Amino acid sequence: MKNLNIVVLLIVCVVFIISNFECSNKENLTMKIEKQAFGKIENGTIVNLYTLTNANGMKVKITNYGGIVTSIYVPDRQGHFDDVVLGYDDLEGYLKVTPYFGCIVGRYGNRIAKGIFNLNDKTYTLATNNGPNHLHGGIKGFDKVLWTAKEIKGKEKVGLELTYLSKDGEEGYPGNLSVKVIYTLTNDNALKIDYEATTDQPTICNLTNHSYFNLKDAGATPILEHELMLDADYLTPVDSTLIPTGELRSVAGTPFDFKILTKIGARINADDEQIKYGMGYDHNLVLNGKAGELRIAGKLFESTTGRIVEVWTTEPGIQLYSGNFLDGSITGKNGTVYKYRHGVCLETQHYPDSPNQPNFPSTVLNPGEKYQTTTVYKFLVEK
Ligand code: GLA
Repeated sequence: MKNLNIVVLLIVCVVFIISNFECSNKENLTMKIEKQAFGKIENGTIVNLYTLTNANGMKVKITNYGGIVTSIYVPDRQGHFDDVVLGYDDLEGYLKVTPYFGCIVGRYGNRIAKGIFNLNDKTYTLATNNGPNHLHGGIKGFDKVLWTAKEIKGKEKVGLELTYLSKDGEEGYPGNLSVKVIYTLTNDNALKIDYEATTDQPTICNLTNHSYFNLKDAGATPILEHELMLDADYLTPVDSTLIPTGELRSVAGTPFDFKILTKIGARINADDEQIKYGMGYDHNLVLNGKAGELRIAGKLFESTTGRIVEVWTTEPGIQLYSGNFLDGSITGKNGTVYKYRHGVCLETQHYPDSPNQPNFPSTVLNPGEKYQTTTVYKFLVEK
């Protein structure tokens, strides 16, 4: 009897070892990260494009210029892979003009009123590059700098680590800010973005990714038929220059109530002051749940392809931007013309103008502290 037990145990062990070996072999065969030249910036430095592929064949392309996610290929209901984000085929496009396609935004994502903020009794003046306000880090934000890239290969994941040192005074912000952004593609079709930063002087920091999604055709048609869910009971209403008034307003009964899946186009032209200011949706929603904990923020669904992207984040807010400034003047990947509302951004972040809003969660980063946030875009298919 004892011998039989030992034999059974041995067989179980052998089967376990073989199946694990096969699994890891499959992983090694299919999960990969490849690098190719993407172009050159003005000073002649070569910029690369990294292609991350997971075991299901999902692909994410990222360049170390601006940390831009240039493509995300995910399956539809039939298992057909297509790109679902807007962008350019080559670096040239991004160097010429871009409404922040797919990039890392910083040092401060979103707007700062009049480009001015106070920190520890000192006033800092930033570029006003969006009407009277500062937007997305200024003239040359993190979307337009070259990041140092390191490839990451792990069990069940491939990734790209990007680092950048933003010098004290760059774009008017105080302190040397050392930034790390890790993009990880996992075998459950999730693109995880981990943001980290440390500073040697008190400063402000609010990082995000500015991908424009169109789950149907990567920007060939409007996103108005896409359905959206946002787990948010409040929005931060804005003035006509898109600076929050400081109020947290209930979304109940307004075009900002996305608590259940609702077509983006259903109320986008509503006779509503906030909608008029944003020319559609260009607003921060206050996410339910506890900031700092990774929880679901929202879900975007496209019914003809069955594609879904779930957004998970540790951030307190999300900027819903319905591509209102796309006007057909940009021709992107594969000759696609990006017209009015052909892409939607779901930018996880702190609320706009937080440095001037004492009642908003703080975006101050002090020496000795670590800025650390995570956002996950998880791709699924409705069968
Ligand atoms: C953000 C802003 C928008 C617009 C886009 C870029 O989402 O909130 O107003 O500036 O970036 O075009």
